[in-house]
Amino acid sequence: MFRLTALLLVSSVAAEIYRIPMQKRPLGFLKPITHTERAIADVIEADSSTPMLRASGKAVISDFSNAQYYGSLTVGSPPQSINVIFDTGSSNLWVPNHHNWFQHHQIYDHSKSSNYKANGTKFSIMYGSGAVSGYFSQDTVNIAGIDLEDYTFAEVDNTKGMGVAYYMAKFDGICGMGWDSIVQGGGHSPIGALVASGKLDAPEFGFYLGNNAPGEMVIGGTDEKHYTGDFTYVPLSAETYWEVKLDSFKIKGESATSAVKAIVDSGTSLLAGPKADVKKIAGLVGAKPIAGGLTGEYSIDCNAEAPDMEFTMGGKTFTLAKKDYVLEEGGQCLFAMMGIDIPAPNGPLWILGDVFMRKYYTKFDYGNKRLGFALAA
Ligand SMILES: *[C@@H]1O[C@H](CO)[C@@H](O)[C@H](O)[C@H]1NC(C)=O
Repeated sequence: MFRLTALLLVSSVAAEIYRIPMQKRPLGFLKPITHTERAIADVIEADSSTPMLRASGKAVISDFSNAQYYGSLTVGSPPQSINVIFDTGSSNLWVPNHHNWFQHHQIYDHSKSSNYKANGTKFSIMYGSGAVSGYFSQDTVNIAGIDLEDYTFAEVDNTKGMGVAYYMAKFDGICGMGWDSIVQGGGHSPIGALVASGKLDAPEFGFYLGNNAPGEMVIGGTDEKHYTGDFTYVPLSAETYWEVKLDSFKIKGESATSAVKAIVDSGTSLLAGPKADVKKIAGLVGAKPIAGGLTGEYSIDCNAEAPDMEFTMGGKTFTLAKKDYVLEEGGQCLFAMMGIDIPAPNGPLWILGDVFMRKYYTKFDYGNKRLGFALAA
């Protein structure tokens, strides 16, 4: 079987910017949309894991066209290393605390930590396609080189909601990077706690999801090596997810949606929007439902021409060309968009997942309550 690759936190000495190398893995043709669906794809290609190489303080990983991204943090004293998805679409940190039969996750064992403090209140959280549950605990959590003392997080002992997929997933837990207001159980979200610690150089983080290149998250700044030009800033319309107003979404000059907001979600692989819109858009770009439409996924002819998608936010238009919104694997092409109806009050909305973030480096500007987008480089 495969082995989990330990990832390394690399803190840059001078700039007080902390880098988390993002592991990148290939996915199967049936492209996942949320954490769980990503995990399903892991089942398809569980043996294609790529060892991460490290050279002079930089994480280097092999490139694949499609990916799952995760990095490492530690919990406890002495530190216990856990691989997590840094998920801007949720706000809780959870780590697994027990081994299911025949699984290979790294787990947290509070009996081995001198800083552990019991809480015991029950915890459960529902993601796009599955729930996990356990209980709250307190311990030292170290994210990107910064210690959060007595941070309240969840130890998860039940991952059944994520299905068999979790067994094969490369991540162990999830570290939500959203706002405090959507923390299950209350308190600070991890990024809220990092900002409150006063230890960040700047109250922000930047995500680079490499496209045929290594990915990286930096906390306390952004990494100018990974974008070109200036950021276009868009004020947040809510401090829940990283949500902004979607001025328009057009294809061939025609409006493609009636939804007026969007969230930028590193924990979602594809683009996702209201089902009825996605159905129409699929028709416009020449995509066909897979499996009779049961999965909500579409395939597309790899060689056919297809129009650009134009998302306007903050008065600026962000374009995705066919090469950006199609995922090719083994000579087949998946239309990287999926229909999901998110009910009011949060929805209807568009989820701009990794497909969008691969093209646009994203600054999550907590201090100024805005998102910044620049072309990834
Ligand atoms: C346990 O954690 C929950 C969730 O953060 C919190 O609401 C509660 O006050 C904590 N209880 C104790 C006894 O610390």
